[in-house]
Amino acid sequence: MAEEVKVFAPATVANVACGFDVLGFALHEPGDEIIMRKNDSGEVSILEITGDEGKLPLNPLKNTAGVVVIDYLKHIGKSNQGIEFILHKKMPLGSGLGSSAASAAAALVAINELMGNPLSRAELLPFAMEGERLACGAAHADNVAPALLGGFVLIRSYSPLDILPIAPPEKLVATVIHPQIEIRTKDSRSILRHSVLLKDAVTQWGNIAGLVAGLLTKDYGLIQRSLKDVIIEPIRSLLIPYFDELKKSALEAGALGCSISGSGPSIFALSDSQETAQKVAKAMTQVLERTTIGYDIYVSPVNAEGPIVLSKK
Ligand code: HSE
Repeated sequence: MAEEVKVFAPATVANVACGFDVLGFALHEPGDEIIMRKNDSGEVSILEITGDEGKLPLNPLKNTAGVVVIDYLKHIGKSNQGIEFILHKKMPLGSGLGSSAASAAAALVAINELMGNPLSRAELLPFAMEGERLACGAAHADNVAPALLGGFVLIRSYSPLDILPIAPPEKLVATVIHPQIEIRTKDSRSILRHSVLLKDAVTQWGNIAGLVAGLLTKDYGLIQRSLKDVIIEPIRSLLIPYFDELKKSALEAGALGCSISGSGPSIFALSDSQETAQKVAKAMTQVLERTTIGYDIYVSPVNAEGPIVLSKK
């Protein structure tokens, strides 16, 4: 069994327009890296966090990655196993790119590897969901499921948990722009209404069914027609400066669809070629170049593999 492992886990786009809390997909970049090793301290400790250092607690009981490792060890009856790790945060917090999910997924894949992989990646999911509860108050799975399993993942039901991994159609390429403002998931969930109009619900469930069918049958036209959100986007987009301009520029550049990534402020678009995805990136960056808002931009095919064990010794 390995004594030390290094694991990468990817950023994710949750909701995917019409699938609030029930659909997400993984990217190739950005993502988090963790270096985890066993020791004989009998405790879990976080040695260092780089990237968004200072913003995240080193106390393992208050840190998503720490909590999921402690819960995992308890579950497999190894609470006395000493563990230490360094977390390299390679994406901003509060970006809508599943930052807490990537940390939890990296930590769970690393600890599972160190313990000889007693659990499958799907069995790690409930632990990662508890990490999300700590991070934002809701144990939603639409970031952690693709962060752990790769590809698209549909959460058909939360109780009981029933998930459907969906292999990404190979031509799909995501463009994600992250305007450098911070929106906390907790806050952007708190502004949502708790009831929806029946006519909006009908539109939304038609679209989510169409999107899943389009992904499964690789029907890009159906994916394009279905990438619409009439319930969440109209409310949350008010928190994102230049959202309408950014979305318009992406669609004009040829994207199949464009919406908010997770709880924002990042905005994603899906295209049916790398070339179009690059054009979309150019069009979106031109919008923010005319403003004082800084940004990060990513162009990435959908990541079908999920976390990668980069090294072990
Ligand atoms: N489904 C969650 C939300 C994802 O939209 O609040 C958070 O990244």
